[in-house]
Amino acid sequence: MSYPYQIQSLEAYHKAYRESVEDPETFWASVAGHFQWKKKWSRVLEWNFKEPRVEWFKDAKLNITENCIDRHLAEKGETPAIIWEPNNPQERTRIVTYNRLHKRVCQFAQVLKNNGVKKGDRVCIYMGMVPELAYAVLGCARIGAIHSVIFGGFSAQSIADRLQDAKAEFIVTCDGAYRGNKDIPLKAVIDDALIGNQTVKKVIVYTRTRTPVSMIKGRDLWWEDEMEHAEHQIEKEGKIEFPAEEMDAEDPLFILYTSGSTGKPKGVVHSSAGYMVWTNYTFVNTFQYQPGDIHFCTADIGWITGHSYILYGPLSDGATTLMFEGIPTWPDAGRFWEIVDKHQVNILYTAPTAIRSLMGFGLDPLKGKELSSLKILGTVGEPINVEAWNWYHEHVGKKRCPIVDTWWQTETGGCMITNLAGITPSKPGWATLPMPGVQPILVDENGKEVTEQDENGLWKGNLCIKAPWPSILRTTYGDHERCRLNYFSAYENLYFTGDGALKDENGFYRITGRVDDVLNVSGHRLGTAEIENAINMHAGVVESAVVGYPHDIKGQGVYAFVIYGHMHGDAESTRKDLLQTVSRIIGPIAKPDKIQFVSGLPKTRSGKIMRRILRKIAEGETGNLGDTTTLLDPGVVDEIRQGRI
Ligand code: WT7
Repeated sequence: MSYPYQIQSLEAYHKAYRESVEDPETFWASVAGHFQWKKKWSRVLEWNFKEPRVEWFKDAKLNITENCIDRHLAEKGETPAIIWEPNNPQERTRIVTYNRLHKRVCQFAQVLKNNGVKKGDRVCIYMGMVPELAYAVLGCARIGAIHSVIFGGFSAQSIADRLQDAKAEFIVTCDGAYRGNKDIPLKAVIDDALIGNQTVKKVIVYTRTRTPVSMIKGRDLWWEDEMEHAEHQIEKEGKIEFPAEEMDAEDPLFILYTSGSTGKPKGVVHSSAGYMVWTNYTFVNTFQYQPGDIHFCTADIGWITGHSYILYGPLSDGATTLMFEGIPTWPDAGRFWEIVDKHQVNILYTAPTAIRSLMGFGLDPLKGKELSSLKILGTVGEPINVEAWNWYHEHVGKKRCPIVDTWWQTETGGCMITNLAGITPSKPGWATLPMPGVQPILVDENGKEVTEQDENGLWKGNLCIKAPWPSILRTTYGDHERCRLNYFSAYENLYFTGDGALKDENGFYRITGRVDDVLNVSGHRLGTAEIENAINMHAGVVESAVVGYPHDIKGQGVYAFVIYGHMHGDAESTRKDLLQTVSRIIGPIAKPDKIQFVSGLPKTRSGKIMRRILRKIAEGETGNLGDTTTLLDPGVVDEIRQGRI
């Protein structure tokens, strides 16, 4: 669609930004006026960061699927909503029009209803990247159930923890998923996750790989049977309709688990109205979507990027979104470029780690690829190094396409600091300017605004946000205090992002990375404490410490220092055992890149591990490790340094 709130010049950006800060209520009321509401709000915004409590569009009623589907049907019923590209390029592409999407989502909402799912119930979704995943997500939203999508790379144990935390009663999964040359047995993983589970009543299984699965009577159901039955129930005069549940603006839309610096992953909760407005507003402005454009976000829907920029952002705009089942390097490293040409992709949004990994294959995979349909490129998930930025700009965008470097987080729901494609300036490695509605501030450890420039004329500090934007997280599921402690207690009256940043004289921001114990490995977020807990569960491990180190492709790699008791076999097999344990407890994505066995860890007299020293060793620092005089046993540092892998 084309909206009056699509910013079309630098002046218009500055004007919108000013208005959004000076009078947020008027600004967001005017944006929200372009959505479909069942009832309008009584108040645009009420908030305090103390509790925290944030309410946007108070008392308004809506259903996000009416905004993502129904409202486009009259004009765009036969327009592709989703173009699905299978893992295997030989297999047929599927095109899901808005009409078809409407039908399938209504059908699946009826399936959920038939199986006892009600508004507010938690439905866990563990599927590969197939259109049915979109139907499942939107079917939940239609009926008002809270979806919790779990990425396919997480283990049974991780799923079990999330099921328990969310008290989920329903699961939607696939028999298996294709990813490259792998066939991942998703249902078997779910079966393991359900051992001992007390809350799950029904598991709906979509057939993708036809890998053998166990189907337990009374609990497990085939998607295809359920959908067929539902179709007959809700078909009237050749039309399918399932009324969208009336949701309060602040009713939770979904939970998405993400890692923090302590404990188990927490369930970030997003609201219905604020999330809708923000994903739409940021989609329209960041990517400057024009009617007819094909938007290709390469993320998995198991992460927030997929939620916001494969599904909710594009669909709320009536856009055409491309969903890819496979991986960038299969059958070869030209797959993305082949997809771009095949579907005439206009906007490509991917992660720096993917760019770096593809760079590693040289220019051969790009040979014979036109890439002439591309207009706009984007990156997300981690800082992008200038080399990767230049390669993307030159070889993919052919120096014609603006690159948007979008900084945001699971907790923010959508883009926060980014240039707007072709509208506001870009600067390689810099996310640049805040979105209208976003008020960043850099603070020092004491929460004081950083006012002094460093030797390069930059301001440097911890990145916080001063006021709520519509899709700020509302809580962490089942534990509001954890939400307060994590995000709102470090600095008074500020949302703390966990990131460090620089600001230049133009007001551009460069995100330098996490300042807490959170790692960013290939754009996946992992807590060091979480990995340590998994390692420590391995028989024989006495203690461990995990830190990140710079990794050419992954951005950050995982380095584990492990004190081990009696080894079963040699160090190499023990290392492999440890990897197996981490895969079992968290998932293959958390496997350490390096494991070093040590006899001790650098600790202060009070027993605290000095990670700063370990980080320096892992980074390969051979010289000064800073002050080690407060260590209990300074000798251990030399031993660790000598044994560095
Ligand atoms: C963390 C959030 C946002 C969706 C994907 C990741 C890092 C994200 C950028 C960027 C530098 C970035 C931050 C942030 N990050 N985008 N453009 N430049 N760093 O979501 O898993 O919640 O991780 O990713 O460190 O805090 P997430």
